[in-house]
This record gives sequence, C-alpha cells and structure tokens, in this order.
Amino acid sequence: MTAEPLFTLTAGPVQPSAETIRSLATPVYDQFDPYFLELYEDTTENLRIAMGVSSAPVIMHGEAVLGLEAAAASLIARDDVVLNLASGVYGKGYGYWADRYCRELLEIEVPYNEVIEPAAVEAMFVERPDIAVVAVVHSETPSGTLNPVGDIAAICDKNGALLIVDAVSSFGAVEVDFEGWPADLVVVGPQKALGGPPGLSLLYVSEDAWAKIDANPDAPTASMLSISDWRNAHKAEVKFPFTPSTVEIYALNSTVDQYLREGPEAAWTRHDRVAAATRAGIKGLGLELWPVNEAICSPALTAFKLPDGSSGADVRQHCREHYGVMISGGYGELTDSLLRIGHMGPTAHPIFSAVSVAAVGQTLLDLGVEVDVGSGVAAAMARVAEPAA
Ligand SMILES: Cc1ncc(COP(=O)(O)O)c(C=O)c1O
Repeated sequence: MTAEPLFTLTAGPVQPSAETIRSLATPVYDQFDPYFLELYEDTTENLRIAMGVSSAPVIMHGEAVLGLEAAAASLIARDDVVLNLASGVYGKGYGYWADRYCRELLEIEVPYNEVIEPAAVEAMFVERPDIAVVAVVHSETPSGTLNPVGDIAAICDKNGALLIVDAVSSFGAVEVDFEGWPADLVVVGPQKALGGPPGLSLLYVSEDAWAKIDANPDAPTASMLSISDWRNAHKAEVKFPFTPSTVEIYALNSTVDQYLREGPEAAWTRHDRVAAATRAGIKGLGLELWPVNEAICSPALTAFKLPDGSSGADVRQHCREHYGVMISGGYGELTDSLLRIGHMGPTAHPIFSAVSVAAVGQTLLDLGVEVDVGSGVAAAMARVAEPAA
C-alpha cells in the first residue's frame, strides 16, 4: 500500500489538526440522544457566532456541492433572470446548475487568471434591470484568485437582486461579511480554511433569501436538495428530516471551537502571512504566479504556472514520492496550466510555506527545470521571519 504523505499541502481537503482528529473518535450516538441534540444545537450556535450573523445557519449533510446545488434549486424561480459571474472553473460550473432552474441565464466570463470587475456587473444591471439573482465564487480555488464580492454585493443590493456566494474555500481564510456585504445565500465548506474533513455544507441564508425560497413553489422540500427541511433542525424540539452525519458534526464542533478560540481576525492574518510567504517563495524559485497580479490572489492557496515542458502529474508524483509533500494540480480546463499549494486551516502555518517551496523547487530541479531552490526558500523564510503584524 502507498505510504501516507508527510504533508498534505493541497487545495483541500486539508490535513486537520490533532484536536479535530481526536473529535472524530467520539462514539456515534443516536441522533435523538439528548447529548447529540445538544451538541448539534451548540455547534450551530457557535457556527453562527463564527460567521458573525444574526440568524442560525443551516447545516446540510453532504459535501459543499450539495449546498451549492441546493442554493440554485431553492432560490432560483422558473421566471428568474440570473446573472452568473464566471472567473474560474467553479464559477463557470455554477451557471450549469443555475440554468436548470431559471428562465434566462446571463453570464460575465473573464479569463481564469483574472477576477470579475464590479463595473462590468454594474453595466450588466443597466442593460438588464430584470436580473433577480446573481451568483459568484469568492475564492476561486482552481485559479487561486479572490473575487471582490463586497463591491459586487453592494451593486446587487442597490439593484434589488439576491446574491449567491460560493465561500467554500474563503471562509476562515479571509473575511466573509455575510450581512454587511450583504449576501443572501452563502455556502461554506468545512474542509478548507476551517480545517475539518469534507462532508457538510454550511449555509448562511438571509431573511430576503428565506422569503424568496418560501415563495418559490419549485423550491425542493422532502428532498436531499431541500434547504427548508433543515431550517430549524438545530432546535432540540424539531426532528431531523433524516439522519445527520454524526461524526462530521463532532468535527465541525471542534473546528469551529478552534476557530473561535484563535479569533477570526487572527486566523485571517495567519492565512495572509503564509500566502505572502508562499508567493514570495514561488517567485524566488523563478516561477510565475497564475493570477495576473498579487492583489487578486486568494489567501487560501497559491497557484503558479506550470513551467514550460513539464507535466503537472509528474511534478506532483515526484514531489509526493521523494519529499512526502502532496500538492494540487490544475483542475478542470486548468489541468495542464498550473499547480497549486494550499495553505488553509492548520496548513496555513508560516513554516509550511518553506516546506512546500523547498519540495516543489527541488522536485522541479530533479525533473530538469531550472529553478533556484535556495532563493525560493530564502524568500519564503524572509517573510516567515517578519514579526506578525
Ligand atoms: C470554490 C469551491 N466550490 C466548491 C467546492 C466543492 O467542490 P468539490 O466537490 O469538487 O470538492 C470546492 C472544493 O474544492 C471549491 O473550492
């Protein structure tokens, strides 16, 4: 059997902390056991505090794509005009779901190493004031970019459209200002910057979004895709629509607790710091970042261009086999264009930037690509050594 990696520095799922791993060893209690009911309620309340929102978030029991698809199915009504913002693989993909439920799908698509310009969204509203729902990805994990969701949200709000946000890889790494932006239906994944295992979708639903879902005759109920079925499931007196993923709740409870103990601002600063160190290291090796400029880089991961003539699969395999470091390749249509180093949750520790840069640099050198490993590691370490702000 293949040996385990020493370091999982991928774009997620991430390597959870020892505390999170220990939480997974809790016995599996009956879903209606008072202990579990209380734990579920407490976990939801702590998640609400971690999100900084005023109403209870909804936990759905499937990996984040469940929440994303459920958001489209529930919020988008058959007469709606939807504007999908595509700056990467997940953004583009959301349009395929949205298209199933709406009357007309509009799209703004930009090259996948760029982000959405708020001015383009503004211009689209001038042309089409009938847009009812807008969808955007905050941190485009396959591209390593961060969309300016705050500015986009303000435009949607001004124009009376509801906003769906995929914050799967951004929550925990950078501020997601759910109510301040404002956003209406935001999907978070526990397996990225929160540092948990995959298996849940964590949803913020605004009052306006609930009103639209309640008024939508096609919004799923008695279905795996139903958000409404789980709206009050955190209340001990309300029965779960079906058996929740018990063990995932233990892990969520633990990761949210760790996030609150550290403090959201401290967690965002930590992600910023390791992201800056990793970018410095990659540039120090002599490689090029994938995003067109550093201002649009996501703090959750670093994407860099695959050097000419090298194969992403070979680089990843060599790096894993020889140095025990697992990194991510390109995803979807970006498969042959880039490689990605994740720094999310527990792996957003500054020293890991030097680990990933050293392993990637030496791998490339082994494979015949000219890079300067020493300069890369030194550049990363110079940022790591800077005192935390
Ligand atoms: C932005 C984004 N959305 C959604 C998802 C969930 O998708 P998947 O099931 O491919 O992990 C991910 C996971 O990588 C993601 O990064």
